[in-house]
Amino acid sequence: MTIYNFSAGPAVLPQEVLKKAQAESLNYAQSGMSVMELSHRSKEFDAIIKAAESLLRELMDIPDNYKVLFLQGGASTQFSMIPLNLAKGKKAYYHVAGSWGKKAYTEAVKLSQTIDFDPILLASSEAENFDHIPSFDSSAIDPEAAYVHITTNNTIEGTAIYDLPDTNGVPIVADTSSNILAVAYNVADFGLIYAGAQKNIGPAGVTIVIIREDLLNDEPVLSSMLDYRIQAGMFSLLGA
Ligand SMILES: Cc1ncc(COP(=O)(O)O)c(C=O)c1O
Repeated sequence: MTIYNFSAGPAVLPQEVLKKAQAESLNYAQSGMSVMELSHRSKEFDAIIKAAESLLRELMDIPDNYKVLFLQGGASTQFSMIPLNLAKGKKAYYHVAGSWGKKAYTEAVKLSQTIDFDPILLASSEAENFDHIPSFDSSAIDPEAAYVHITTNNTIEGTAIYDLPDTNGVPIVADTSSNILAVAYNVADFGLIYAGAQKNIGPAGVTIVIIREDLLNDEPVLSSMLDYRIQAGMFSLLGA
């Protein structure tokens, strides 16, 4: 029996991928064990994470001045990790066109009670049940702000942004969880792109962060696990 799963995630995986995983489940790459039993310090896993990065770079045409991180904690952890690393002492704008954008903003507001930064609601279509992408005046954006956060596809309402807005020169940070690899965005137009893998890429458990190198935090943040520079320096293997 075949089940056609149209839910937003976990997504369907290609049969050939599942068959390959099945065939290799007792002995991955002549290691004598399954991929699930490999050490993250092993040469086999090193090859896996490097190949995943290189394929993603190829598929998204990611420029060399961007780091690719494979992190834990879901896209939801990024709602706090982004302001923690990028926004210290600055303004951070939120464009809210759906439930996930609202969650990102709500988490930022929560964090701003303990970390010094200023989350600002740039525009919201909540009053109309998120039935459209709200517009805003880009000249109202402080050019010194840390970022403008957008959600390229609000999974629940389906409000999607294909053409990126003018943000007055401020880097765009985008939650692309439900349309990463389905829409060909130009990575160089973003400061940071993030996505939980389980909707468009693979099984749950990994979150992709693509960050322009000059946005990596100068100062250590609250926790090493939540620190982009430390994670980038350790090829995402901290705490793995
Ligand atoms: C657009 C968007 N952002 C964030 C999330 C949360 O992702 P996670 O479950 O990986 O924390 C989801 C999950 O549905 C989503 O669709």
